[in-house]
Amino acid sequence: MSITIRHDNAKRFIGEHELACLTPAAIAANNMLAKGTGAGNDFLGWVNLPTQAKKDAAAVKKVAHEIRDNAEVLVVAGIGGSYLGARAVVESFADSFALAGAKKGSPAIVYAGNNLSGRYHNELMRYLDGKEFYVNVISKSGTTTEPAIAFRLLKEYTEKRYGEKASERIIATTDRAKGALRTLATEKKYRTFVIPDDVGGRYSVLTPVGLIPIAAAGIDIDGIIDGAIAQEKETASDSIEKNTALRYAVLRNALYAKGFATEIMVNYIPRLHFIAEWWKQLYGESEGKDQKGIFPAAVDFTTDLHSLGQYIQDGRRTLFETVLRVKSDGSDITMQKAGDDADGLNYLAGKGMHEINDTALMATVLAHTDGGVPNLALELDAVSPYTIGELLYCFEKACGISGYMLGVNPFDQPGVEAYKKNMFALLGKKGYEKEREALMARVTR
Ligand code: PA5
Repeated sequence: MSITIRHDNAKRFIGEHELACLTPAAIAANNMLAKGTGAGNDFLGWVNLPTQAKKDAAAVKKVAHEIRDNAEVLVVAGIGGSYLGARAVVESFADSFALAGAKKGSPAIVYAGNNLSGRYHNELMRYLDGKEFYVNVISKSGTTTEPAIAFRLLKEYTEKRYGEKASERIIATTDRAKGALRTLATEKKYRTFVIPDDVGGRYSVLTPVGLIPIAAAGIDIDGIIDGAIAQEKETASDSIEKNTALRYAVLRNALYAKGFATEIMVNYIPRLHFIAEWWKQLYGESEGKDQKGIFPAAVDFTTDLHSLGQYIQDGRRTLFETVLRVKSDGSDITMQKAGDDADGLNYLAGKGMHEINDTALMATVLAHTDGGVPNLALELDAVSPYTIGELLYCFEKACGISGYMLGVNPFDQPGVEAYKKNMFALLGKKGYEKEREALMARVTR
């Protein structure tokens, strides 16, 4: 087991008896996931997905090889669950300054359709000028506005650049039969990959949605899948000691019951920023309903200690933190002694930056705990494909368990539709005329 959760710095806030009281509910929730007896049980395809992903990996690797051999850039067009999982994993292994070096054999992965900025998409197409590229458009419904707009632009751009061969450079990941993207893909003869019906967007990272961009980035998807398989097995257990997902679900629900209604995912190494972004969607969209749910927030420390540290230390006492603690960050730098010690840093000589970072982590955990912020620690031995695979699946399982413990359906997202309906009405889409009339009276420009 290379990921564990500790709550040494939450013990002041929750007693062992409180955890014991919640444990049977967590075990029952976990069994509901295994047996498919809970709400949203038509969206449980992710529970055994790691084993399935192993079978699908060959086709994913084949297309990823082709992209790596023929492209300097892969554009991934998608949003929400059709984007964040891929980006979370790709950036966990990316060189922070690699974009400039995009080349065949090791293409840069860039993103489109995750916002509605014309400037961003103009800049993207300028960036693509003169570079060899592929596009992977990802949309389960095939109709989501942001990626659909981006793809219309990218499709035209690709056709201008590659003429008749444009279709060979576009890969569509979508529903097996429904949606405008499926229709377009059939008509244009794009290669397609299927998002299974029973896997919702935010649980789809181990389908081709996530695996194609991840493999195209040169990341070992077998390692990711193996880590997820290990957690698929481990999180089937009823043992609170052995099952990290069960333990995490119990801890966060015990804190929520005490009024700690905001969970902040804390990360200390920049490359894990998007893991927290993915986690935010997973938990926010799964739990935030029926006027309930823990609000998922995220910070990058130590950066945000210099902006949000004050609030966390001293503001409203409704926060708890879950700290991603990585024991090794791969490469490191050891501080050396400087002759004049003009900057006063010689006391750090001999220490690695990772050790200094980890000391900052510990100092912050202690300060925040003293300030009334319970702290959980999710510890990873290292950032490897295996541990990231473990982490992804463990978070998914804990999210399903937490959602059932909370009494919500963790697999729907009715609230996401409200803004879409308004946007279609205000933009003048056919079929939304009545809504448009009512909304226009309230619009201020
Ligand atoms: O998790 C979800 O269901 C959402 O975030 C969707 O993934 C997101 O809205 C994109 O939807 P689609 O894949 O249909 O374009």
